[in-house]
Amino acid sequence: DLSGPQILRVITHAYHLKQLSTPWLAPQLSSGKQPRLRMPSQSLFNKSIALLFSKRSTRTRVAAETASLLLGGRALFLGKEDIQIGVNESPRDTARVIGGMCQGIFARVGDHSEIEELANHSPVPVLNALSSLWHPTQILADLLTLHEHAHLFDPSSPPPTSAVKAHTAVLPTLRPLTIAYVGDSANVLHDMLVTYPRLGHSLRVATPPPPAYQAPVPVWDRVKELKCDEKIWWGTDPREAVQGADVVVTDTWISMGQEAEYEQRVRDFAGYQVTEALCREGGANPDWKFMHCLPRKKHEVDDEVFYGPRSLVFPEADNRKWTIMAAFEPPSLLFGKWDITSER
Ligand code: CP
Ligand code: NVA
Repeated sequence: DLSGPQILRVITHAYHLKQLSTPWLAPQLSSGKQPRLRMPSQSLFNKSIALLFSKRSTRTRVAAETASLLLGGRALFLGKEDIQIGVNESPRDTARVIGGMCQGIFARVGDHSEIEELANHSPVPVLNALSSLWHPTQILADLLTLHEHAHLFDPSSPPPTSAVKAHTAVLPTLRPLTIAYVGDSANVLHDMLVTYPRLGHSLRVATPPPPAYQAPVPVWDRVKELKCDEKIWWGTDPREAVQGADVVVTDTWISMGQEAEYEQRVRDFAGYQVTEALCREGGANPDWKFMHCLPRKKHEVDDEVFYGPRSLVFPEADNRKWTIMAAFEPPSLLFGKWDITSER
């Protein structure tokens, strides 16, 4: 729902929050000099965010809980076994009741219609923590990670500013990248499709042959509405997809809720594992980097790539925290007036 400039604004804010909150990353520490400590504002003081999660989560949950703490607020984890929703109470009534006590809802749902229903009836803002169609906060973290590593893609770009200069730190500029995705047409890819092309990056996607693994109609409609399709190549051959790729991305082949399709999917995705050989044979940029939202299974990407020097997966996971924190900070997505284009 955000424009390209708004997305960059959230990322920039996340970068500042990270620099403010992680002074131990400053080079001054290793030289024995103390960096100046600056903590984020307590902008969520006396405020609560409901984490309404009907599916498992490690990163998104821990990011939301720890980010809320640093902002002085409280995140309430409400798993599907904890509350009445779906068993004794409708999403409509639940949204109204939670919205009467909390200032925001961060919801992880099954079918995307469930979060639409929550949003339609909630008196407070609702932010998507993953649905069947989309995973927007994942792409915020992926983008921050790419910007932080801009110097790997462009030798003339300086590495990120040290934490001690957090208040003046400028988000490194990213040259237009070719980003390849090899895997399932699922929520993470869908947000890549509507985000990267609007920020000047090209996407090359390989999924197993249609009709099984095509993007759903509402996703493709949105891609076309935003004119993102002009920068997307889509085929079925992973080698063709990684041609010229600066970054190679994949996701699980079996998303949460698809466990019954495990064996069929593993068969359908044969040949889709991300490896050095695949990217060499496909003609990826020799300096290509690897990203994955996690959790990961070995059949999607081998250990050599996953734990190797190309892998950005753990900085990417860390960045879930700073980007979710930026999304939670007013004036941002959840609290007060939603106007992240105004000066702060
Ligand atoms: N990437 C991601 O959303 O991970 P979790 O399911 O652990 O939150
Ligand atoms: N596509 C995956 C993403 C997990 C973060 C899923 O929906 O399970």
